[in-house]
Amino acid sequence: MMPLWIDTDMGFDDMLAILMVQQSGRSVTGCSLVFGCAELTQVCRNAAAMAATFDWRFPLHPGAASPIVGETETAARILGPTGLPTLGRHLLETETRTDWTSAFVALAQWLQRSQEPVEVLALGPLTNLAVLKLARPDLYGKIGRITWMGGAASRGNHTPAAEFNAFADPEAAAIVSSGGAPFRLVDLDVCRQVTVTPADLQALQTGSEKAALLHDLFGGFIDIGISRGRPSMALYDPVAAAAVISESAVAFEPVRIDVERTDRQARGRTIVDNRPGTTANAEIGITADAEQIRTLALDALKWAAAE
Ligand code: RIB
Ligand code: CA
Repeated sequence: MMPLWIDTDMGFDDMLAILMVQQSGRSVTGCSLVFGCAELTQVCRNAAAMAATFDWRFPLHPGAASPIVGETETAARILGPTGLPTLGRHLLETETRTDWTSAFVALAQWLQRSQEPVEVLALGPLTNLAVLKLARPDLYGKIGRITWMGGAASRGNHTPAAEFNAFADPEAAAIVSSGGAPFRLVDLDVCRQVTVTPADLQALQTGSEKAALLHDLFGGFIDIGISRGRPSMALYDPVAAAAVISESAVAFEPVRIDVERTDRQARGRTIVDNRPGTTANAEIGITADAEQIRTLALDALKWAAAE
């Protein structure tokens, strides 16, 4: 098994993805942070509070606060300023350290030390990985596989055309998908096959303080869908985590990915070309084993609540 690094913008579904990885017994070498669900400073606060709550031992590294080109756009419009909507309880604020090594330095040092190919699970805008690829293509080439929750073969979520992680930094998505390390996408279409509903909150009614906190954060996440008149909410980052920890969770097929960077309305759209004869530069998740992934996610929440 390849050593694993996680790159994340630390919303609730990112946190759940990390809990799934941990419950699977796979260790996390390090975690780089990127703007996205919230501004980078808030992402760092979320990460520090989660690390304290769940006793995460892996190091955290602040990375990009803005995209390669253009203005910073967070998902605050949907998720609120903390990036973590809740039914009531919030993560306890902890002191955010100022001596954290930066994501770029930490990733470069890790790759330099590494004697074998390594794996990256990317759960936010791809800015940190794109910067690494541009600055140190030699080290970037040591990455044996990147699995990214991002993109949309059909309709977007942040805009009609674009999924949020792709929209937040389309140039980075184009850089990472254009080669240098094997790349696979777990896009919105495959994530939409895996949903959670308010009934799933019952898994967390055990009475402990941690269970109550997870109940409220999970409820806040589910409410993103329910408050918009939908019967359920899609799991995003947990589907990518499931693909990393279980070979049978998501079936992939080779495709060519291009990312729209010019047109204003379609900016961030991922163009997925699977025509016969096309030269593939990536793999895309096509089918998700929804029951398996739901079980992995709900079990991880129950496990974290009981720890
Ligand atoms: O579009 C869904 C993605 O945007 C997820 O990674 C979520 O955590 C946010 O980053
Ligand atoms: Ca995310």
